[in-house]
Amino acid sequence: MMLRVAIFDLDGVLVDTAKYHYLAWKQLASELGFDFPLAENEKLKGVSRMRSLEILLRTGRMEGRFTASEMAGLADRKNERYVEYIKKLGKDEILPGARDCLLRFRELGLKTALGSASKNAGVILDRLELGSLFDSIVDGTRTSRAKPDPEVFLLAARDLGADPAVCVVFEDAQAGLDAAKAGGMRTVAVGQPGDLTGYDAIVDGLHEVDPEDLVRRFV
Ligand code: BG6
Ligand code: MG
Repeated sequence: MMLRVAIFDLDGVLVDTAKYHYLAWKQLASELGFDFPLAENEKLKGVSRMRSLEILLRTGRMEGRFTASEMAGLADRKNERYVEYIKKLGKDEILPGARDCLLRFRELGLKTALGSASKNAGVILDRLELGSLFDSIVDGTRTSRAKPDPEVFLLAARDLGADPAVCVVFEDAQAGLDAAKAGGMRTVAVGQPGDLTGYDAIVDGLHEVDPEDLVRRFV
């Protein structure tokens, strides 16, 4: 079946926000009295805010120490910091090749969609003026189940009236690749082979994607 829809994760695929998520979590960890090394950050990619907090607390051996409302407070504190960073986002932080990739898929007649876990996606797309390049936008405000559940990508396919088999998902997170696979979609991993598994193709970034070639290959 011919590809009809290209679905893009946001953080780490279209824009270099993964570093801001990391900085904001690291700051929270430091306030709680432990270090959060960069090597641990891979586990937070693609994962919802609350789940990320649980993973962070486990790293600091502080899991189970907080009530639900304290947990919500900690997640809010991290998000306030993160929002401070993304309020200042500039178009130079759009990752190389991202804009061209979206435009090229559209020229080839495919629909484009955003499939992000983030509740901040709207702010980010506004800052980067990327919103108009998507036919469907699904973010953390529209989903109730986090990646690796396929909900986010299936909603995008449904918005566009497309069968999952004609969708390709670009993802930098293992949870996201697993979600796309679980939804019956093709996957292009964005990252390093050592960090990710279970994809149909892998690239270092969207600048390496040749949309025409991909459409030819994924039949
Ligand atoms: C994903 C990020 O895109 O969004 C995760 O990879 C993040 O690191 C998740 O936790 C939720 O984002 P937000 O902006 O709603 O806290
Ligand atoms: Mg990501």
